[in-house]
This record gives sequence, C-alpha cells and structure tokens, in this order.
Amino acid sequence: MIQQAIDGDIGGVPARELIAAYGTPLVVIDTGELELEIDRFVRAFVARGITVGYAGKAFLVTAMAELLAATPLRLDVCSLGELITAERGGYPAGRIYFHGVAKSDAELQAIADGRVAFGVIDNAEEIERLAKIARARAPVDVMIRINTGIEAHTHEMVRTGGENTKFGIPERDARATIRRIAELPQLRLIGLHSHVGSQIVDVDPLIANLEELIGYADFACGLGLPVAELNVGGGIGIENGPGDARPIDLDAFAANLAERAAGTPYRLAIEPGRALVARAGSLLYRVVTVKRQGERRFVVVDGGMTDNPRPMLYGAHHPADLIVSAATGAPAPATLAGRSCENDEIGEYALPDDVAAGDAIAMRYTGAYTYSMASNYNRFGKPAVVFVRDGTVRRVVRAETDDDTSRCDLA
Ligand SMILES: Cc1ncc(COP(=O)(O)O)c(C=O)c1O
Repeated sequence: MIQQAIDGDIGGVPARELIAAYGTPLVVIDTGELELEIDRFVRAFVARGITVGYAGKAFLVTAMAELLAATPLRLDVCSLGELITAERGGYPAGRIYFHGVAKSDAELQAIADGRVAFGVIDNAEEIERLAKIARARAPVDVMIRINTGIEAHTHEMVRTGGENTKFGIPERDARATIRRIAELPQLRLIGLHSHVGSQIVDVDPLIANLEELIGYADFACGLGLPVAELNVGGGIGIENGPGDARPIDLDAFAANLAERAAGTPYRLAIEPGRALVARAGSLLYRVVTVKRQGERRFVVVDGGMTDNPRPMLYGAHHPADLIVSAATGAPAPATLAGRSCENDEIGEYALPDDVAAGDAIAMRYTGAYTYSMASNYNRFGKPAVVFVRDGTVRRVVRAETDDDTSRCDLA
C-alpha cells in the first residue's frame, strides 16, 4: 500500500494553515473538545449538587477565563497573575477562590479585599497574617487545606498528600488550627479542602480523603463554625492518549462522592484541571533536523523543555502524530528532542524512516501543565496560543518575540 502524504487538521482547521499563519511551536486548544469535557463534568457533578472549580494552574489565559466565565464552573487561582487573568476575562469574583502554599502579602490582601469569594489557608502563619490584614473589615471567608495523610499512587512530583509533602495543614495540627480560627472574629471558616495529588487513576484515595474531611468538618461544626463545603481537590487522571480507555468514570465517581456525603450537612466540591483541558490541547512543532548519533535517530524540533517541560521534569509522555509531512516510510524508532541546551528529550516514538526537516508534529493531550509551565530558558519566547473550533481559528495569545525575552531587563 502506498502511504499518502499527511495533511491533518485540528478542530477542522488545516494544520498547514495554522503553521503558516502563526508559526511553531504553537499551542492549539480545540474549544469544541474543551466544552465537551466541561459538559461531562457539569452533567456528572453539578447535576448532583457537587460544585466544580477549574484549577487555573493547568492552563489559564484571558480567553480561557472568558470561556469558563460563561459556564457554571468556579475558578481556583493560586497567584495574583492568575487572578488578574481571571479578572481580565470577566470572571465574577464570587466564583473565584485563592489557593497557594506561600501567599504573598499582596495575595492575602486580594483575599481580604473580596477580589475572590474565599481564600484557602495552607499554613498556620497565613491565618495570623490574614487576620491582621482583615482586622478592620468584615470577616474574611476561608477554607483550610488539610493534608489528610492520604497518599495517592501517583508520581511523587505530583503527589500532594501524605506526610512527606509540603502541602496543607498536617493532620496532627488540623484540630488546633480549626480551634485557632474559631478564636478569630476576622476569619470565617466556611469549608475544608484537601487535594491529594494529580493524575490519580483510582478513586479510592479520593473517597478516603472525603471521609477524613467529614471527620474534621464535624469537629469544626461542633465548635460552632459555619463549615458547609468539603472540597476534595482535583487530580482526576486521564488516559495516555485518544485510543485508550478513560481511567475514571466521572458519573460513577460523582455518585460515589454524593453517596458518601449523603446524610451529612455538607455540600461537596472538586477542582480538576488536567481532566478538563488536557485532551483539548495540541502543541505543534516543526522538525528542524534529523540526526543519527550512535544507535539513535534524533528528530529535533523547534520547541522542547521551554514550552513542554513535563517530559523532562517527571517523564510525562504525550502521544505524538505527524500532522504535516510527505513521509511515506515505515515507522522506526525516533527520539524526539527539543532545541534547548539541555538533553531535553521529549520521548521515544515510532516515526516514518523518512521523516524530514519541515515536517510538523502534533503533541497531543498537551492542554494541561504545558503552556502554563512554559519558561524562557535560553531566552526563547513562549509560543502563541490559538483556539480552534469547527473550522474557525482565533489567536488568543501572541507569541513572545525575541525582544520580549529581555523586556524586563533594566540595563
Ligand atoms: C490545590 C490543587 N487543586 C487542584 C489541582 C488540579 O489537579 P489536576 O490538574 O490534576 O486535576 C492542583 C494541581 O496541582 C492543586 O494543587
């Protein structure tokens, strides 16, 4: 069989056109796919009275905030940068809340000023700092993030529960922390939170986490505190690629949570990031050179760890497709490598033996923790972001120019 040259599209827009118009690397979000995922969460969770907050750290730009503002989702921000992005996108303050393990004074001030619905306290010092800032004002609504000691089986870089992690109030201090908040008229404890990790593919730790929270909530209510909501965090894992089965059945998980909380006075909430946006994202690269060195064939692309650091940070693997190419050869092992001055290998793939400079590759499932983790290492500019949908395209973030990479330099 003679293979055809490849000329693919994303969201109905030819990749060739996207590359010609916006260059590479290029972040492409298929908002049709994204809205399908949002809808899945709304039908499974919101329909059962479980609030869904989107974890902005996964991917947040102004146009994303605009899109989400038109849905029932809340938004979790963890920096002033994310908050300002949300505000620019018209996100209502009443649906935003503020996380963060080491909030700055300015971030605590934003919570006290009511730029968000509530803050999630991560540590004992934050309670005192926020109470001081809030002194002259109406009580500030807070939740506390409790490290319930539940360890999810996931990569240690994305595990946030258990005693060997820095996140949240440790179990042994949780009751004293709740008591301390009860003493402070400046703060009002409206809920409890616990996020145990990311890319979790088994719901048991998430349910166990809820059970722990219910115990602490009962304790807080016993002190007369108005704890009404329990947030079990995000972390809902996704499959490796489009051909694989989804590891977590949202409907069953939502039903399981609701069943566990039935009979308690508590409302539930979750805050996924990855599971909402990862599948909708593709990252386009062009091949710059193909080299054989030793036993290996390196296919070097015009991006890498600066726009997609997860493979180098903790071995994340994204499916990759040749999306524009004249190659017709048989698949053969190839190491996809980036262009930075590190061994920024993106992963091992099977690519045609005649893949060549100029071909375009789409890294799939890169909607989460890819653009949001981009850096300017080597003073490479960050890529543009476009939204595609049903054959239309809209650029929502321009690419940084080479000049942009020194725009904050003062010399
Ligand atoms: C507090 C908190 N909530 C939610 C999330 C979202 O996790 P995920 O994208 O795996 O759903 C994170 C991720 O780091 C987090 O730290």
